[in-house]
Amino acid sequence: MKSLLFTAALAGLSEAALRFACSTLSIQRLDPVVEPSNVPSAHLHQIVGGNAFNASMEPEDGDPAQKATCTTCTFSEDFSNYWTAVMFYKHQNGSYQRVPIMANDALPAGVNGGMTIYYTQQDFFSNGNKKITSFPKGFRMTAGSVTATSKYSKGLKFVCLQNKSTRFPELDEFPTQKCVGGIMTVHHFPACWDGKNIDSPDHQSHMYNTVNDAFVNSGACPASHPVRVPQVTYETLWDTTKFNNLPWPTDGSQPFVLSYGDNKGYGTHADYMFGWKDDALQRAMDSSCMFNACENGRPLKSQQPAQMNACQIKPTVQEKIDGCKDPSYLCHNYMY
Ligand SMILES: *[C@@H]1O[C@H](CO)[C@@H](O)[C@H](O)[C@H]1NC(C)=O
Ligand SMILES: *[C@@H]1O[C@H](CO)[C@@H](O)[C@H](O)[C@H]1NC(C)=O
Ligand SMILES: *[C@@H]1O[C@H](CO)[C@@H](O)[C@H](O)[C@H]1NC(C)=O
Repeated sequence: MKSLLFTAALAGLSEAALRFACSTLSIQRLDPVVEPSNVPSAHLHQIVGGNAFNASMEPEDGDPAQKATCTTCTFSEDFSNYWTAVMFYKHQNGSYQRVPIMANDALPAGVNGGMTIYYTQQDFFSNGNKKITSFPKGFRMTAGSVTATSKYSKGLKFVCLQNKSTRFPELDEFPTQKCVGGIMTVHHFPACWDGKNIDSPDHQSHMYNTVNDAFVNSGACPASHPVRVPQVTYETLWDTTKFNNLPWPTDGSQPFVLSYGDNKGYGTHADYMFGWKDDALQRAMDSSCMFNACENGRPLKSQQPAQMNACQIKPTVQEKIDGCKDPSYLCHNYMY
């Protein structure tokens, strides 16, 4: 009991939570976690974060925080990469048009597309009196599964937006009605780590999911995965509004399809590649800063949207993205 109290006293109660924008770094078919060195990967992703992103990012390829020279994220010491599938609208003639990505209105204006990234503690308001340990160098993980054929796990959600601030209800699948403010996809990653492995064959079993819905973790981490790491969450806002006036399927389905050919949303998934510089993430988790109060060196260095948007990479995979007949393979016959 004594040692438990001692640990609790050491950790102390802190309320740190990061919420920040990362603009779009690239939209292309690469996936260095699931398909390292495959050019192109099976399906299209939107990638945000550091410009060391590449087809291969194995630990022996080097630390992204050392290799990158810029990042599309607000926190300029965050050279991590974050990516998800891309959304398309399927025209009646069978051709697919990419759905634009819009910025979150809770974040600074002028961010080009991208995602909202969160690193929270045990829940939004507390670390549960336990230390939240940063990921180690080389760490990577995925959430969700492309091959899921039924409503998948906790923490992978869709929101039918009335406006950019709508957060509820969270749905387990694509909304089938027209959403006047667009559609948001939400990916909550598991937050309990085995404390040993920076990856695992399925990119998931080194992690354990205690995620409840909406940023709340239920219960302690299990003995098999005892280390509480930050709860990483992505929100992506898809501007589906311009497609609401176009023809919709008459069978009650909706016309939106994720880039691996999924119009139900069961296979919704996301990938994470850690790349924070030095101990920046640990410093943030040990602080009590919330959201943009963590900027300007308190404790994290930050940058403005113009600098974020200026960070770009040249695509490795050059292909036409719009107007293709097959969203899984896109137009790889039509290199330009
Ligand atoms: C990406 O990989 C290619 C081929 O391995 C290499 O030439 C290039 O320098 C890498 N780029 C970065 C930013 O690491
Ligand atoms: C399919 O329809 C869309 C919308 O009218 C049009 O932009 C596109 O060019 C068409 N594609 C083909 C292959 O006919
Ligand atoms: C946005 O939509 C939510 C419902 O999702 C509503 O409660 C809120 O008032 C709306 N905000 C604005 C600015 O219209």
